[in-house]
Amino acid sequence: MSAPAPVYLDHNATSPLRPVAGDAMVEALQAGGNPSSVHRIGRAARGRIEIARRHVAALVGALPAEVIFTSGGTEANNLALTGVRRRRVLVSAVEHDSVLKAMPNAEFIPVDGDGIVDLAELERLLARPREPAVVSVMFANNETGVLQPIADVVRIARAAGALVHCDAVQGAGKAPVVDIHGLGVDYLSLSAHKIGGPAGVGALVVRSGAPLSADRLGGGQEFNRRAGTENVAGIAGFGAAADAAVGGLEVEGLRDRLEAALLGIAPQASVFGSGARRLGNTTCISMPGVRAETQVMALDLAGVCVSAGAACSSGKVTRSPVLLAMGVSPAVADTALRISLGWNSTVLDIERLIDAWQDLYTRVTNSDIVPARAA
Ligand SMILES: Cc1ncc(COP(=O)(O)O)c(C=O)c1O
Repeated sequence: MSAPAPVYLDHNATSPLRPVAGDAMVEALQAGGNPSSVHRIGRAARGRIEIARRHVAALVGALPAEVIFTSGGTEANNLALTGVRRRRVLVSAVEHDSVLKAMPNAEFIPVDGDGIVDLAELERLLARPREPAVVSVMFANNETGVLQPIADVVRIARAAGALVHCDAVQGAGKAPVVDIHGLGVDYLSLSAHKIGGPAGVGALVVRSGAPLSADRLGGGQEFNRRAGTENVAGIAGFGAAADAAVGGLEVEGLRDRLEAALLGIAPQASVFGSGARRLGNTTCISMPGVRAETQVMALDLAGVCVSAGAACSSGKVTRSPVLLAMGVSPAVADTALRISLGWNSTVLDIERLIDAWQDLYTRVTNSDIVPARAA
Protein backbone atom coordinates (compact mmCIF):
# COMPACT_ATOMS: atom_id res chain seq x y z
CA MET A 1 0.00 0.00 0.00
CA SER A 2 1.38 3.45 -0.88
CA ALA A 3 1.93 6.03 1.87
CA PRO A 4 -0.86 8.60 2.28
CA ALA A 5 -0.28 11.99 0.61
CA PRO A 6 1.48 14.48 2.86
CA VAL A 7 -0.64 16.85 4.88
CA TYR A 8 0.18 20.47 4.04
CA LEU A 9 -0.46 22.96 6.83
CA ASP A 10 2.00 25.70 5.87
CA HIS A 11 -0.25 28.03 3.87
CA ASN A 12 1.31 31.17 5.37
CA ALA A 13 4.60 30.16 3.72
CA THR A 14 2.86 29.48 0.41
CA SER A 15 -0.54 28.10 -0.44
CA PRO A 16 -0.94 25.39 -3.10
CA LEU A 17 -2.04 26.65 -6.50
CA ARG A 18 -5.83 26.74 -6.84
CA PRO A 19 -6.98 24.82 -9.95
CA VAL A 20 -8.72 27.95 -11.32
CA ALA A 21 -5.44 29.84 -11.06
CA GLY A 22 -3.53 27.06 -12.82
CA ASP A 23 -6.11 26.99 -15.64
CA ALA A 24 -5.91 30.77 -16.12
CA MET A 25 -2.12 30.60 -16.23
CA VAL A 26 -1.98 27.79 -18.79
CA GLU A 27 -4.46 29.62 -20.98
CA ALA A 28 -2.44 32.85 -20.79
CA LEU A 29 0.87 31.07 -21.44
CA GLN A 30 -0.51 29.27 -24.46
CA ALA A 31 -2.05 32.45 -25.87
CA GLY A 32 1.20 34.44 -25.44
CA GLY A 33 1.46 38.07 -26.54
CA ASN A 34 2.84 41.28 -25.11
CA PRO A 35 0.06 43.36 -23.53
CA SER A 36 1.64 46.54 -24.95
CA SER A 37 1.32 45.28 -28.55
CA VAL A 38 -1.55 46.82 -30.49
CA HIS A 39 -2.45 43.73 -32.53
CA ARG A 40 -5.13 41.26 -31.49
CA ILE A 41 -2.82 38.92 -29.60
CA GLY A 42 -1.43 41.82 -27.62
CA ARG A 43 -4.92 43.13 -26.95
CA ALA A 44 -6.04 39.71 -25.71
CA ALA A 45 -3.08 39.64 -23.30
CA ARG A 46 -4.03 43.15 -22.13
CA GLY A 47 -7.59 41.92 -21.61
CA ARG A 48 -6.34 39.13 -19.33
CA ILE A 49 -4.43 41.64 -17.23
CA GLU A 50 -7.41 43.97 -16.92
CA ILE A 51 -9.72 41.12 -15.86
CA ALA A 52 -7.18 40.16 -13.20
CA ARG A 53 -6.88 43.79 -12.12
CA ARG A 54 -10.62 43.93 -11.54
CA HIS A 55 -10.55 40.73 -9.47
CA VAL A 56 -7.61 41.88 -7.34
CA ALA A 57 -9.24 45.30 -6.85
CA ALA A 58 -12.50 43.64 -5.79
CA LEU A 59 -10.67 41.51 -3.22
CA VAL A 60 -9.66 44.65 -1.32
CA GLY A 61 -12.44 47.10 -2.21
CA ALA A 62 -10.21 49.14 -4.53
CA LEU A 63 -10.71 50.68 -7.94
CA PRO A 64 -8.95 48.73 -10.72
CA ALA A 65 -6.84 51.80 -11.53
CA GLU A 66 -5.47 51.68 -7.97
CA VAL A 67 -3.84 48.25 -8.52
CA ILE A 68 -0.18 48.11 -9.61
CA PHE A 69 1.06 44.59 -10.35
CA THR A 70 4.50 43.74 -8.95
CA SER A 71 6.72 40.67 -8.63
CA GLY A 72 5.26 39.89 -5.19
CA GLY A 73 4.68 41.14 -1.69
CA THR A 74 8.34 41.98 -1.16
CA GLU A 75 8.44 44.32 -4.14
CA ALA A 76 5.09 45.86 -3.17
CA ASN A 77 6.41 46.66 0.34
CA ASN A 78 9.68 48.04 -1.06
CA LEU A 79 7.87 50.12 -3.70
CA ALA A 80 5.46 51.65 -1.18
CA LEU A 81 8.08 52.59 1.36
CA THR A 82 10.68 53.92 -1.04
CA GLY A 83 8.13 55.38 -3.49
CA VAL A 84 6.42 57.50 -0.86
CA ARG A 85 9.66 59.47 -0.48
CA ARG A 86 9.26 60.41 3.16
CA ARG A 87 12.40 60.31 5.25
CA ARG A 88 10.61 59.67 8.54
CA VAL A 89 9.30 56.09 8.64
CA LEU A 90 7.63 54.33 11.58
CA VAL A 91 7.12 50.56 11.43
CA SER A 92 5.72 48.05 13.90
CA ALA A 93 8.26 45.80 15.58
CA VAL A 94 6.64 42.68 14.08
CA GLU A 95 6.76 43.58 10.37
CA HIS A 96 8.03 41.20 7.69
CA ASP A 97 11.69 41.55 6.66
CA SER A 98 10.61 43.08 3.34
CA VAL A 99 9.56 46.13 5.38
CA LEU A 100 12.23 46.03 8.08
CA LYS A 101 15.19 45.54 5.74
CA ALA A 102 13.85 48.06 3.20
CA MET A 103 13.72 50.69 5.95
CA PRO A 104 16.76 50.09 8.19
CA ASN A 105 16.50 53.57 9.74
CA ALA A 106 12.82 53.30 10.67
CA GLU A 107 11.58 54.05 14.19
CA PHE A 108 9.90 51.08 15.88
CA ILE A 109 6.39 51.03 17.25
CA PRO A 110 6.48 48.43 20.04
CA VAL A 111 3.87 45.67 20.46
CA ASP A 112 2.27 44.18 23.58
CA GLY A 113 2.39 40.58 24.77
CA ASP A 114 -0.21 39.58 22.18
CA GLY A 115 1.68 41.29 19.38
CA ILE A 116 -0.66 44.29 19.03
CA VAL A 117 0.91 47.67 18.22
CA ASP A 118 1.06 50.13 21.09
CA LEU A 119 -1.27 52.89 19.84
CA ALA A 120 -0.38 55.27 22.68
CA GLU A 121 3.29 54.96 21.76
CA LEU A 122 2.49 55.57 18.08
CA GLU A 123 0.62 58.73 19.09
CA ARG A 124 3.53 59.82 21.29
CA LEU A 125 6.09 59.23 18.53
CA LEU A 126 4.03 61.15 15.98
CA ALA A 127 3.33 64.01 18.40
CA ARG A 128 6.98 65.00 18.27
CA PRO A 129 6.73 67.55 15.51
CA ARG A 130 9.31 66.65 12.94
CA GLU A 131 9.01 66.06 9.24
CA PRO A 132 5.92 64.32 7.72
CA ALA A 133 6.04 60.58 8.27
CA VAL A 134 4.84 57.33 6.75
CA VAL A 135 3.60 54.62 9.12
CA SER A 136 3.74 50.93 8.13
CA VAL A 137 1.71 48.39 10.11
CA MET A 138 0.76 44.96 8.76
CA PHE A 139 -2.83 43.72 8.54
CA ALA A 140 -2.09 40.25 9.98
CA ASN A 141 1.14 38.75 11.24
CA ASN A 142 2.62 35.90 9.21
CA GLU A 143 3.76 33.94 12.28
CA THR A 144 0.94 34.44 14.79
CA GLY A 145 -1.98 35.57 12.61
CA VAL A 146 -2.57 38.46 15.03
CA LEU A 147 -4.67 41.23 13.43
CA GLN A 148 -3.63 44.83 13.96
CA PRO A 149 -6.06 47.68 14.73
CA ILE A 150 -5.43 49.32 11.35
CA ALA A 151 -8.38 51.76 11.52
CA ASP A 152 -6.99 53.12 14.82
CA VAL A 153 -3.48 53.35 13.35
CA VAL A 154 -4.94 55.35 10.42
CA ARG A 155 -6.88 57.69 12.74
CA ILE A 156 -3.74 58.49 14.76
CA ALA A 157 -1.53 58.80 11.67
CA ARG A 158 -3.97 61.08 9.84
CA ALA A 159 -4.18 63.43 12.84
CA ALA A 160 -0.41 63.83 12.56
CA GLY A 161 -0.40 64.23 8.78
CA ALA A 162 1.24 60.84 8.20
CA LEU A 163 0.57 58.46 5.31
CA VAL A 164 -0.16 54.79 6.08
CA HIS A 165 1.10 51.63 4.40
CA CYS A 166 -0.40 48.27 5.32
CA ASP A 167 1.19 44.94 4.39
CA ALA A 168 -1.93 42.84 3.83
CA VAL A 169 -0.04 39.91 2.27
CA GLN A 170 -1.32 37.54 4.97
CA GLY A 171 -4.70 39.20 5.50
CA ALA A 172 -6.28 39.57 2.07
CA GLY A 173 -8.17 36.45 1.01
CA LYS A 174 -7.87 35.01 4.53
CA ALA A 175 -9.72 37.54 6.73
CA PRO A 176 -13.40 37.91 5.76
CA VAL A 177 -12.92 41.53 4.63
CA VAL A 178 -9.89 43.66 3.78
CA ASP A 179 -11.09 46.98 2.38
CA ILE A 180 -8.50 49.64 1.55
CA HIS A 181 -11.02 52.48 1.63
CA GLY A 182 -12.89 51.16 4.66
CA LEU A 183 -9.58 50.98 6.53
CA GLY A 184 -8.49 54.35 5.15
CA VAL A 185 -4.93 53.29 4.31
CA ASP A 186 -2.96 54.83 1.47
CA TYR A 187 -0.96 51.77 0.33
CA LEU A 188 -1.78 48.06 0.65
CA SER A 189 0.57 45.19 -0.31
CA LEU A 190 -0.66 41.86 -1.67
CA SER A 191 0.95 38.59 -2.78
CA ALA A 192 -0.62 35.94 -5.03
CA HIS A 193 1.05 32.85 -3.58
CA LYS A 194 -0.46 33.32 -0.13
CA ILE A 195 -3.97 32.87 -1.53
CA GLY A 196 -3.53 30.03 -4.02
CA GLY A 197 -2.04 32.00 -6.89
CA PRO A 198 1.53 31.63 -8.21
CA ALA A 199 4.67 32.88 -6.45
CA GLY A 200 6.45 35.80 -8.08
CA VAL A 201 3.45 38.08 -8.54
CA GLY A 202 1.73 40.52 -6.22
CA ALA A 203 0.36 44.04 -6.17
CA LEU A 204 0.69 47.38 -4.50
CA VAL A 205 -2.72 48.99 -4.20
CA VAL A 206 -2.37 52.78 -4.06
CA ARG A 207 -5.30 54.94 -2.95
CA SER A 208 -6.19 57.42 -5.71
CA GLY A 209 -4.32 60.62 -5.01
CA ALA A 210 -1.65 59.08 -2.73
CA PRO A 211 1.88 60.02 -3.86
CA LEU A 212 4.14 57.32 -5.31
CA SER A 213 7.35 57.65 -7.30
CA ALA A 214 8.42 54.73 -9.46
CA ASP A 215 11.59 52.98 -8.29
CA ARG A 216 12.54 51.48 -11.65
CA LEU A 217 12.88 53.13 -15.01
CA GLY A 218 11.77 51.79 -18.37
CA GLY A 219 8.47 51.46 -20.22
CA GLY A 220 5.23 53.04 -19.10
CA GLN A 221 3.60 49.86 -17.79
CA GLU A 222 1.35 49.86 -14.72
CA PHE A 223 0.37 53.53 -15.04
CA ASN A 224 4.05 54.57 -15.25
CA ARG A 225 4.60 53.27 -11.73
CA ARG A 226 6.22 49.89 -12.36
CA ALA A 227 8.17 49.55 -15.60
CA GLY A 228 8.70 46.18 -17.28
CA THR A 229 6.67 43.84 -19.48
CA GLU A 230 3.92 42.36 -17.35
CA ASN A 231 3.98 38.72 -16.22
CA VAL A 232 0.69 38.00 -17.97
CA ALA A 233 0.33 34.35 -16.89
CA GLY A 234 1.24 35.12 -13.28
CA ILE A 235 -1.15 38.06 -13.19
CA ALA A 236 -3.93 35.94 -14.73
CA GLY A 237 -3.34 33.29 -12.04
CA PHE A 238 -3.35 35.96 -9.35
CA GLY A 239 -6.65 37.36 -10.64
CA ALA A 240 -8.32 33.94 -10.64
CA ALA A 241 -7.04 33.17 -7.12
CA ALA A 242 -8.18 36.59 -5.87
CA ASP A 243 -11.65 36.00 -7.30
CA ALA A 244 -11.82 32.61 -5.56
CA ALA A 245 -10.54 34.06 -2.28
CA VAL A 246 -13.16 36.82 -1.89
CA GLY A 247 -14.79 36.46 1.54
CA GLY A 248 -11.69 34.90 3.10
CA LEU A 249 -11.05 31.43 4.46
CA GLU A 250 -13.61 29.54 6.51
CA VAL A 251 -11.29 27.40 8.59
CA GLU A 252 -11.60 28.95 12.03
CA GLY A 253 -13.64 25.99 13.33
CA LEU A 254 -10.90 23.58 12.24
CA ARG A 255 -8.20 25.79 13.76
CA ASP A 256 -10.06 26.05 17.10
CA ARG A 257 -10.57 22.28 17.17
CA LEU A 258 -6.87 21.79 16.49
CA GLU A 259 -5.80 24.18 19.26
CA ALA A 260 -8.16 22.57 21.77
CA ALA A 261 -6.75 19.13 20.93
CA LEU A 262 -3.09 20.23 21.14
CA LEU A 263 -3.65 22.01 24.46
CA GLY A 264 -5.44 18.89 25.68
CA ILE A 265 -2.33 16.82 24.87
CA ALA A 266 0.17 19.31 26.34
CA PRO A 267 -1.60 21.62 28.83
CA GLN A 268 1.63 23.62 29.41
CA ALA A 269 1.77 24.60 25.73
CA SER A 270 0.94 28.18 24.86
CA VAL A 271 -0.73 29.67 21.82
CA PHE A 272 0.96 32.98 21.00
CA GLY A 273 -1.34 35.94 20.44
CA SER A 274 -4.35 34.02 21.74
CA GLY A 275 -5.58 37.10 23.63
CA ALA A 276 -5.87 39.07 20.40
CA ARG A 277 -8.07 38.91 17.30
CA ARG A 278 -6.32 36.55 14.91
CA LEU A 279 -6.67 35.18 11.40
CA GLY A 280 -8.81 32.06 11.54
CA ASN A 281 -6.15 29.97 9.77
CA THR A 282 -3.06 30.44 11.94
CA THR A 283 -1.81 28.85 15.15
CA CYS A 284 1.58 29.60 16.63
CA ILE A 285 2.05 27.15 19.49
CA SER A 286 4.95 25.96 21.63
CA MET A 287 5.52 22.35 22.57
CA PRO A 288 7.28 22.85 25.88
CA GLY A 289 10.87 21.67 25.91
CA VAL A 290 11.09 20.59 22.25
CA ARG A 291 12.93 22.77 19.79
CA ALA A 292 10.87 23.85 16.79
CA GLU A 293 13.22 22.29 14.23
CA THR A 294 12.97 18.94 16.03
CA GLN A 295 9.18 19.20 15.88
CA VAL A 296 9.21 20.18 12.19
CA MET A 297 11.44 17.21 11.33
CA ALA A 298 9.45 14.72 13.43
CA LEU A 299 6.16 15.91 11.94
CA ASP A 300 7.65 15.81 8.44
CA LEU A 301 8.66 12.18 9.00
CA ALA A 302 5.03 11.56 9.98
CA GLY A 303 3.95 13.16 6.68
CA VAL A 304 2.80 16.52 8.09
CA CYS A 305 4.29 19.76 6.72
CA VAL A 306 4.32 22.75 9.10
CA SER A 307 6.93 25.38 9.82
CA ALA A 308 8.98 26.80 12.63
CA GLY A 309 7.96 30.45 12.55
CA ALA A 310 8.77 32.40 9.42
CA ALA A 311 10.09 30.39 6.47
CA CYS A 312 13.29 32.08 5.34
CA SER A 313 15.07 31.71 2.05
CA SER A 314 18.00 29.73 3.46
CA GLY A 315 15.71 27.09 4.97
CA LYS A 316 17.41 27.73 8.30
CA VAL A 317 15.35 28.20 11.42
CA THR A 318 16.18 31.42 13.23
CA ARG A 319 14.78 32.65 16.53
CA SER A 320 11.58 34.57 15.82
CA PRO A 321 12.00 38.36 16.20
CA VAL A 322 8.19 38.55 16.25
CA LEU A 323 7.90 36.40 19.38
CA LEU A 324 10.84 38.21 21.00
CA ALA A 325 9.12 41.57 20.32
CA MET A 326 6.07 40.14 22.11
CA GLY A 327 8.22 39.50 25.17
CA VAL A 328 8.42 35.71 24.75
CA SER A 329 11.61 34.31 26.27
CA PRO A 330 14.23 33.02 23.79
CA ALA A 331 13.95 29.49 25.22
CA VAL A 332 10.19 29.40 24.66
CA ALA A 333 10.43 31.13 21.26
CA ASP A 334 12.75 28.31 20.16
CA THR A 335 9.91 25.81 20.69
CA ALA A 336 7.28 27.67 18.62
CA LEU A 337 5.63 25.93 15.71
CA ARG A 338 3.54 27.69 13.06
CA ILE A 339 0.57 25.78 11.70
CA SER A 340 -1.37 27.53 8.94
CA LEU A 341 -4.49 26.22 7.21
CA GLY A 342 -5.75 27.15 3.78
CA TRP A 343 -8.33 26.77 1.05
CA ASN A 344 -7.94 22.97 0.77
CA SER A 345 -7.49 22.07 4.46
CA THR A 346 -9.73 19.33 5.81
CA VAL A 347 -10.65 17.79 9.13
CA LEU A 348 -8.54 14.75 8.18
CA ASP A 349 -5.47 17.00 7.89
CA ILE A 350 -6.10 18.29 11.39
CA GLU A 351 -6.50 14.77 12.75
CA ARG A 352 -3.23 13.61 11.14
CA LEU A 353 -1.43 16.56 12.76
CA ILE A 354 -3.01 15.92 16.16
CA ASP A 355 -1.98 12.23 16.02
CA ALA A 356 1.58 13.10 14.98
CA TRP A 357 1.88 15.76 17.69
CA GLN A 358 0.53 13.35 20.29
CA ASP A 359 3.05 10.72 19.19
CA LEU A 360 5.94 13.19 19.38
CA TYR A 361 4.83 14.50 22.76
CA THR A 362 4.59 10.97 24.16
CA ARG A 363 8.11 10.19 22.94
CA VAL A 364 9.41 13.42 24.46
CA THR A 365 7.78 12.83 27.82
CA ASN A 366 9.25 9.30 27.75
CA SER A 367 12.65 10.98 27.13
CA ASP A 368 13.15 9.49 23.68
CA ILE A 369 13.93 13.01 22.40
CA VAL A 370 16.30 15.45 24.03
CA PRO A 371 14.40 18.49 25.39
CA ALA A 372 15.53 21.98 24.43
CA ARG A 373 18.14 23.55 26.68
CA ALA A 374 17.13 26.83 28.21
CA ALA A 375 18.92 29.53 26.23
C1 LIG B 1 3.59 39.51 5.89
C2 LIG B 1 4.37 39.25 4.64
N1 LIG B 1 4.76 40.29 3.89
C3 LIG B 1 5.45 40.12 2.75
C4 LIG B 1 5.82 38.87 2.32
C5 LIG B 1 6.61 38.73 1.04
O1 LIG B 1 5.78 38.29 -0.01
P1 LIG B 1 6.43 37.60 -1.31
O2 LIG B 1 6.82 36.22 -0.90
O3 LIG B 1 5.33 37.61 -2.32
O4 LIG B 1 7.57 38.44 -1.73
C6 LIG B 1 5.46 37.75 3.09
C7 LIG B 1 5.90 36.40 2.68
O5 LIG B 1 6.13 35.54 3.50
C8 LIG B 1 4.70 37.95 4.27
O6 LIG B 1 4.34 36.92 5.04
